Amino acid sequence: MNALNLVPLPVSVDLLGTPPFALDDKVVIVADPAATEVAEVAAKVLSQTTGLTLPVASTSEGGDNTREIRLVLPPQGAVDEGALDMSDEAYRLEVTSDLVTLSATTPRGLNWALATLRQMVTPGEDGGWVIPAVLVEDVPRFPWRGLSMDVVRSFYTVDEVKTVVDLLATYKMNTLHLHLTDDQGWRLEIPGREALTEISGVTAGAGGDAGFYTVEDFADIQHYAAARGVTVVPEFDLPGHTNAATHVYGELTPSGEPTPAYDGAKVGFSKLYPDLPPTEPFLRDVINSMAEQTVGPYIHIGGDEALEMDLGNYNELVTMAEKIARETGKRPVAWQEAAGAGLPGNMIYQFWDPRLTREDMAKAVSEGGQLLLSPANHVYFDMQYDADTPHGQDWSGYVELRDSYEWDPVTQVEGVPEEDVVGVEATVWTEYIHGFDAMTYMLLPRLAAAAEVGWSARGALEWESFAGRIAPESAWWNAMGVNWHRSPGVDWK
Ligand code: ACM
Repeated sequence: MNALNLVPLPVSVDLLGTPPFALDDKVVIVADPAATEVAEVAAKVLSQTTGLTLPVASTSEGGDNTREIRLVLPPQGAVDEGALDMSDEAYRLEVTSDLVTLSATTPRGLNWALATLRQMVTPGEDGGWVIPAVLVEDVPRFPWRGLSMDVVRSFYTVDEVKTVVDLLATYKMNTLHLHLTDDQGWRLEIPGREALTEISGVTAGAGGDAGFYTVEDFADIQHYAAARGVTVVPEFDLPGHTNAATHVYGELTPSGEPTPAYDGAKVGFSKLYPDLPPTEPFLRDVINSMAEQTVGPYIHIGGDEALEMDLGNYNELVTMAEKIARETGKRPVAWQEAAGAGLPGNMIYQFWDPRLTREDMAKAVSEGGQLLLSPANHVYFDMQYDADTPHGQDWSGYVELRDSYEWDPVTQVEGVPEEDVVGVEATVWTEYIHGFDAMTYMLLPRLAAAAEVGWSARGALEWESFAGRIAPESAWWNAMGVNWHRSPGVDWK
């Protein structure tokens, strides 16, 4: 489609045919005041790409000999993340021989322009770096493009999570969903409920690391992410997947005794009890604290795999959690099983398990809900690539790069119109993924496929084209120092 290797494929790319922009140490990054943070990110990304150290300035020197990369925002570039308005993410990138202009209505849009710019930097004939003269105009197909990361079964440090944020931003993915609580551990400090992390912050799945994020750590992750256009969504998984909580608070169980710590990989055995008086205050304390600690507009309340609960208790608990979450002012998100609980409209349901009924989701959407797509057979990145993959599992089959690419988010749940599909979220569960090398090996290259499915126009998706465009990205992963998998069907450099 075009001579540039851009992932995800933009809406419109016009090569101007005029001389390229030479990227050398004379170039200055000039940013509007509201774009200074993105400009610092740009300096870092371009340094990582080329080794050049480019200064960031707030005003143009305007001399004849200066060449600039300009970051431009409209004066009142207000961001309203809750609105899921895709035009907030649109950007324009114009490159001529003496000026590179990135423009958008929000800093997030500027980050996406930067992601495109980074992919256009190529070695010049004289040993320097050049950017071809081009005009790119772009906007995403879906407003939610993300990754859900399980930091419970295996914990990942703040710096490792920041590197994952860098990878998301590289492919214009705007959401990092952190799965912070489960049977094996509790990963976010809850002021007033410090025992959760004191006791369950030091446990993990067998072979995985333990740890937790303090209030300051969580704020630090969110600030880093926001500067790169990425919103963090915290998850308190309930009413199943709650053994780390019942291990701390015996009062949450009928016997009054804490449950033993659990480091296995079974799911579905743990639960909460709606009729126990301490249950509701516990939910309230955790959900309120998570909401208070969260900058973004969403909170995830879990809802998956409560296999040992009777349906009445399940529905009662999910309803209780939804109400508390709603009262915080955040918009609640839940896994697909919650679609059968008769919750009020406007929930976002996350489809993950192709083995379960999809009818509840279609009905919940018809009553005002929306859908987030995470089908395990396409975007569960804990699935092995093939029988030789040394990490992960295979309950949903092997998932190679091409499987992550060739699917359409709007045809997964019959009866749901495109406007009620908020987007695509890949997941990575860490029962069998230990350490950061294993983590990025499972993410790359599949993350880029999920990103393109979420961003690019439906008619533009073509495997041969993607396979050609993704190949040179390995140079960037190497520059970032992250491990990746050589998926078949791509002529990796
Ligand atoms: C899930 O994979 N249990 C959401």
